[in-house]
Amino acid sequence: MDADALTRLTEEAIAAIEAAQTSDELEQVRVTHFGQKSPLRLAGREIRDPAAGKAFNAARQAVENSIEKREEALARSELDRRLAEERVDVTLPVGGWERGHLHLITQVRREVEDIFLGLGYRVVDGREVETTRYNFDALAFPPGHASRSPLASVFLDDETVLRTETSPSQIRAMEAQEPPVYIVTLGRVYRRDTPDATHTPTFHQVEGLAVDEGITLADLEGTLDFLLRKLFGEERRTEFRTHYFPFTEPSIEAYVSCHVCDGSGCPVCRHSGWIEVGGAGMVDPKLFEFVGYDPERYTGFAFGWGLERIAVLRHGIPDLRELWRDDLRLLRQF
Ligand code: PHE
Repeated sequence: MDADALTRLTEEAIAAIEAAQTSDELEQVRVTHFGQKSPLRLAGREIRDPAAGKAFNAARQAVENSIEKREEALARSELDRRLAEERVDVTLPVGGWERGHLHLITQVRREVEDIFLGLGYRVVDGREVETTRYNFDALAFPPGHASRSPLASVFLDDETVLRTETSPSQIRAMEAQEPPVYIVTLGRVYRRDTPDATHTPTFHQVEGLAVDEGITLADLEGTLDFLLRKLFGEERRTEFRTHYFPFTEPSIEAYVSCHVCDGSGCPVCRHSGWIEVGGAGMVDPKLFEFVGYDPERYTGFAFGWGLERIAVLRHGIPDLRELWRDDLRLLRQF
């Protein structure tokens, strides 16, 4: 075979190799142009002189190199293609999952905490299981008071009760520190009430306590006025009426102008224009004596309101029990 023919066969083989688009195609090309029965190989067998042999070896080497290069290139591009086509995007949403949110009571709880943190108060924890000493005696409940009865409260034994209000936290907070005291404490309380539209045996309260030199009823009313506007709207008006609690003197009940009718009268405010929110008062000096504060030096105020009550009033929920039913159709609205 002459040199020109060798060059032509070599070039043909290399061109075919470079044109192969897949590994399979490349294998076909290799068999056709470089296999045992290919013209190039057959030509090789006829070589007799060393110069032609050298030329043939060079040609064979060139074809082998070219196959190797093409193999690599095809493997790389096939890998690239598979990486692109078979990629699993692990960030895709699976679908059907819903994100939950905080229960309305928890939202109100956090809102109240934020309001008081903003006023410089501390948020402290109380305990749900209390002694009768802290739940009643320290708060000056007289011996025959109705809530000392096992018909009204949940007793664990003669001296242990599920707290009937958050007020025992006042005592614990004062025992834990010297004045000035500015704290709120929020959590569950328990009463043996039959559930109805306005009562559940377990509910939540926020208790606030401020003790310092020179605290007056005006400070209490100013604070509650601020709280009520934050909760029910800046345009609300507030009113305070006298009341009675064993552990405050004087005691008051806070009212807010009805957010539905703005005071003109409607079913929500029972046509009075005002909505009762909860109790408050000036800390009775008897409590200071119990915890060892000087009642001549310090005065203070306290309040205790139901969180469920705030929630149902503000959002127009007709029945307080709804908040304990876990019906997502209701809860999702808040
Ligand atoms: N503990 C009272 C209640 O549950 C509310 C209250 C708290 C009143 C603090 C005065 C001061 O009704």
